[in-house]
Amino acid sequence: MRSYSLIAPAKINLYLEIIGDRPDGYHELVMILQSIDLADQIDIQTNGDQNIRVYCDHPQVPTDKSNLAYRAVELMAQEFPTVWNTHGGVDITIHKQIPVAAGLAGGSTNAAAVLVGIDLLWDLGLTQSELEELGAILGSDVPFCLGGGTAIATGRGERLSPLSILDNIYIVLAKYRSLEVSTGWAYKTYKQNFANSYLQDRESLTTRTQAVHSGAIVKAILSKDPGQIAQNIHNDLERVVLPAYPQVLQLRELFAATEGVLGTMMSGSGPSVFAIVESLAQAELVKQHIQSAILDPDLELFITRTANHGIKLAPS
Ligand code: C5P
Repeated sequence: MRSYSLIAPAKINLYLEIIGDRPDGYHELVMILQSIDLADQIDIQTNGDQNIRVYCDHPQVPTDKSNLAYRAVELMAQEFPTVWNTHGGVDITIHKQIPVAAGLAGGSTNAAAVLVGIDLLWDLGLTQSELEELGAILGSDVPFCLGGGTAIATGRGERLSPLSILDNIYIVLAKYRSLEVSTGWAYKTYKQNFANSYLQDRESLTTRTQAVHSGAIVKAILSKDPGQIAQNIHNDLERVVLPAYPQVLQLRELFAATEGVLGTMMSGSGPSVFAIVESLAQAELVKQHIQSAILDPDLELFITRTANHGIKLAPS
């Protein structure tokens, strides 16, 4: 049986602006997405019996059709029925490191790894843009997770313009294990409260998108300046998530008041919060400070770095 092991990195949002809504129920966004080196490992192999089986020992990760990795196999089977009939089913094992339901694209990056794994197992030879098109069917963040690195994402989040490499910036990441925020709820609540600020016509949406492209955060990324990047990070969804989740607000405020933190923000729809710091030594001090200020075993803290890649083969 053929098998592959793939590394599937998480992402954070350095920038998330909601600029409008769409007839398909989604929102028009301008985001800057950044891969980090906190990653899951996905092992995938053909099983020869036409079944899809997902294994994961993390209690919060489903192994049925509600797992996006499972749906990624179904999608490939639908798209390539002849190959599916020849090669048969697949077994997928997810080794979870990325916190679940955290705003870190954990489910999306697992699905992206499955697309890449099946492309390899079935010798499909799909191009990056063909994989991205399939990824967009599964979820808005899946196309980014495939190639990773640093990119501006527009539309629903699936239209990507890569930015220059931004690796080795240190990040401290915090997430309450048992706290989950529904992405659907966050966007719906944002719409209920702030739809009056949405841009309506295509021209205004394009102008706004271009303004971000030539704006301060992109300049800071191009100059690889962590201090400037940290001063320009932004996430509109904080406006609805922070008031509804006091623990996330407290974490965010504590990071902001901690020495050595250049900037802090919630990632995606939360509830994870990240802080940009200057060095590994600073990251360790910041982590210790947060740990001693919030004595709650439910709080998980990670030190990670920005990464310049998406899905890749695990070193053998
Ligand atoms: O695409 P994905 O499944 O990750 O999105 C989860 C939910 O987040 C969607 O069902 C939708 O409610 C909301 N969403 C949105 N606009 C986007 C992306 C996500 O409203 N651009």
